[in-house]
Amino acid sequence: MSIQSPGLFIAFEGGDGAGKSTQAARLSDALESRGFSVLRTREPGGTPIGEKLRSLVLDHGHGTIDARTEALMFAAARAAHASQVIRPALAGGSVVITDRYIDSSVAYQGAGRGLGAEGVLTLNDWATEGLHPDLTVLLDVDPSDGRRRRTAGDATEDRLESEPDAFHSAIRHAFLDLAEASPSGYLVLPASADIDTLAAEILDRVESLLADRVPGDRS
Ligand code: TYD
Repeated sequence: MSIQSPGLFIAFEGGDGAGKSTQAARLSDALESRGFSVLRTREPGGTPIGEKLRSLVLDHGHGTIDARTEALMFAAARAAHASQVIRPALAGGSVVITDRYIDSSVAYQGAGRGLGAEGVLTLNDWATEGLHPDLTVLLDVDPSDGRRRRTAGDATEDRLESEPDAFHSAIRHAFLDLAEASPSGYLVLPASADIDTLAAEILDRVESLLADRVPGDRS
């Protein structure tokens, strides 16, 4: 987040099936009940053009998408998301909670597709004009657990999810490397932990970031 922005920017990251959406919803509900204005959003998506890009890049049936095209599609959706949704909400004083952000591109396209972290980070810094989260909550999931969780019931896997375990293993390590490189900006938790325990730990960390803020100050 930039210095001039009064809001707080939180990203949830992790492999497929880590339980990010559940924890993002829990955090959002807890903060709203404490009087904070919260914007919950997701990537790819969050804007009309982003949702279109989401279905183009995730649905099976659009033929082969090469790695650079894929990275640019995620970055294009993110550019719209950052400028049209995230920045205005932060400027208005909201807590923005996004389900995935730049780290997902570094992990999936950088490590999973082999484009490398550096180029993907540069592309995304440009796309977002350098907008980074204040805190990234990384739910670390073992790839086989993740697959079991996301295919429970009748759920089908999207284009990225259906990649083999080795792909998901590379992604897991890329997320952990990002967290290790800037520990103060990350909260890394095991996705296998109890849902309520995870929610409490996440809220605790976010509340400490919000400690100096007064709910009445935000609109
Ligand atoms: P997600 O919304 O978490 O999936 P679901 O709605 O099925 O829970 O993410 C969609 C997929 O897109 C996921 O496999 C990760 C992938 N992805 C990337 O490869 N790069 C990115 O930059 C982003 C944001 C997502």
